[in-house]
Amino acid sequence: MNAFRLQFRFIAPLFLVIALTAYLTVPLVDQFSLRWTVRDLNSRAELVANTISENVIDSIISFDHVRLEALFNRLIANERMLGVGLCDHEGNLRERTSGFPDDITCPIADQVVAQSSPTLKLPRGSVHIAVEPLSRPPLNLGELVLVHDLSFAEKRGEDTRRYLILFFVILGAVIALITVITAHLSLRGWVTGVRELLRGGNPLKAFENPTSELQPLAHELRALLREMEDERRARENPPDLWTPDKLRDLLHADLRGDEVLVVSNREPYIHEKTPDGIVVKRPASGLVTAVEPVMRACSGTWIAHGSGSGDKESVDEHDIVRVPPERPAYSLKRVWLTREEEEGYYFGFANEGLWPLCHIAHVRPVFRVSDWEYYKAVNQRFADKVVASARTDDPVILVQDYHFALLPQLIRERLPRATIITFWHIPWPNPESFGICPWRKEILRGMLGSSILGFHTRYHCKNFIETVDRFLETRIEHEHSVITLDGQETLVKSYPISINWPEPAEEAAWPSIAACRKELRARFDLPEDRMIAIGVDRFDYTKGILERANAVERLLEKHPELIGKFTLIQVAAPSRSELDEYRYFQERLARREAEINERFGGPDYWPFILLAQHQDSETVHRYYRGADVCVVTSLHDGMNLVSKEFIASRNDEQGVLILSQFAGAAGELPEALIVNPYHVEETADALYRALTMPEAEQRDRMRTLRATVRERNVYRWAGFMLLDAARIRRRERIEARLLTHTENR
Ligand code: G6P
Repeated sequence: MNAFRLQFRFIAPLFLVIALTAYLTVPLVDQFSLRWTVRDLNSRAELVANTISENVIDSIISFDHVRLEALFNRLIANERMLGVGLCDHEGNLRERTSGFPDDITCPIADQVVAQSSPTLKLPRGSVHIAVEPLSRPPLNLGELVLVHDLSFAEKRGEDTRRYLILFFVILGAVIALITVITAHLSLRGWVTGVRELLRGGNPLKAFENPTSELQPLAHELRALLREMEDERRARENPPDLWTPDKLRDLLHADLRGDEVLVVSNREPYIHEKTPDGIVVKRPASGLVTAVEPVMRACSGTWIAHGSGSGDKESVDEHDIVRVPPERPAYSLKRVWLTREEEEGYYFGFANEGLWPLCHIAHVRPVFRVSDWEYYKAVNQRFADKVVASARTDDPVILVQDYHFALLPQLIRERLPRATIITFWHIPWPNPESFGICPWRKEILRGMLGSSILGFHTRYHCKNFIETVDRFLETRIEHEHSVITLDGQETLVKSYPISINWPEPAEEAAWPSIAACRKELRARFDLPEDRMIAIGVDRFDYTKGILERANAVERLLEKHPELIGKFTLIQVAAPSRSELDEYRYFQERLARREAEINERFGGPDYWPFILLAQHQDSETVHRYYRGADVCVVTSLHDGMNLVSKEFIASRNDEQGVLILSQFAGAAGELPEALIVNPYHVEETADALYRALTMPEAEQRDRMRTLRATVRERNVYRWAGFMLLDAARIRRRERIEARLLTHTENR
């Protein structure tokens, strides 16, 4: 309809010009054709008259009336000859054939001269008159009059006119058709060009021959292009660090203060009932560590499972509690799950199925149909909550992690204009491994409801794209990392997650390194000169804690001089303990702890201390500052924020980080001692190297690590995703405008 209106503007003037040309041309052609006919009849009449005039004269002189009549009848045998007459020298009509018109009187020449044309319009139709004088000196015998019928010429003129008009109509239609097709093709090409341009393609392609109709839009697009270029430059050469304020500015300027909703399984604040009343706890979760500061900056609503024993008592009638408790900045909306739902969706499908599937840490994934049913039902429930909580029809929704693979598509069905950013906090395996999942297609389809799908590393993005390529029929633009499924585009991109880099004022309030060292040793009954390596993890088989214990054992075997001088303190926050695999792992590690301490320890010495307790973030922070080394030996980890937290805590530029090559963080932090945790010897050597590293080398490494984490902080993580979201929203707005623009024309 829109395209038609636009093209009508081209076609209407075209038709006008063609009609005008026809109007001027048709009478001209009519006149020319009549003139040619008259000229033909003139010469024909002259020829006839010349041929018979002598015979006519003879008949008159000899008074042979019969012969004259026969001559005349011969002439009118021709169908175009209407009649023949004879005027005498006195101006009387002496002879005439039957068809000779009554309206013609003698002398004829006067009538023809009066008309200044050899044609005469009679009531019965037009005729052509030719007059031939008859004389044989000295006799003047009058004139021979030949009358031709002109109606055939008129008929021919009418036919010519009809054909001409038909010709102009067909010509107009053909030109109009060509115009419509050309306009259609060029409009389509232009729109494709615009799309290409907005996605970062070749701008020249998009602006090739913009027609005058589209010039205003071309202007807008050029401005947008400039804006995008500035944005890109700003990213490559950051003028200043990403801070909460900068993130807030982005939300107001680029996202125009649009509504932001976060969905995750784990809630950022858990209310627990204790004998002393309800207390608020912070869970051990990398996801919460990263997203919480972003939410403080953005406000908005965070929707999560209310898992605490005191959660229900702490919310209002809308299941909302304002957090953080000490300085409320955003709303936490809790979703309640039954025991069966939690077992099927969370413990079952998410943590016995997807977690081992994506980590490939030698624990077999378990997939049960009943768990899958709960997983689908809970995803649907969260989708309903999101839709009910949205105040607008195009909110920005941040979906977190593997608990909600189906959520993006479920939300998309109900809020098609929403910008859905899904972040997958854990690794993505190769297509063969992912193919184990019986519901692989449903999971992939669900995730592709997202506008943006984020992973920590490019390697995980590549695995995901290859998995989609293997199992679904989609269009994949590798150049732009965009997957299109049923018309929905998903940008697949890496956004390395991080932590909130501390403000100078916050740092100023920290206890000194000396105080932290003292506290840590006192807390575990260790002498002041004990060298300490610290490990802080959830009690999870993917974290490589057993491998760490093996490395300590090997270190003491290789360097007996360290016995009595070195201890590894492992903080392991119990996690998902309902699951067999987690319980077995806890038991196994407890046994290893006992073995190592028995072999190398004594009444006052434990080389390996396992603290199977959740520690609050302030305590962990002081442990980091009090330790000499931090050990991260994950067998597979999306990013690992412990490594970044340790770096941020060491403003004394001392301390050594040992980091698994299988943690996403290894790509960003090459100045750490990078190890293969499966290689016990290598990890033991790294421990030794860390414990004996000169202060100057520690400083050099720590300085670079700190600069990296400070710059690549969590606001940058969120900022980059939101900038991409803003770009997509702008593109969608322009596409919508383009549509309205063509509709209105
Ligand atoms: C990982 C996951 C998070 C999860 C966290 C703690 O970091 O990516 O989504 O919150 O582990 O696990 P939990 O099961 O206790 O929430």
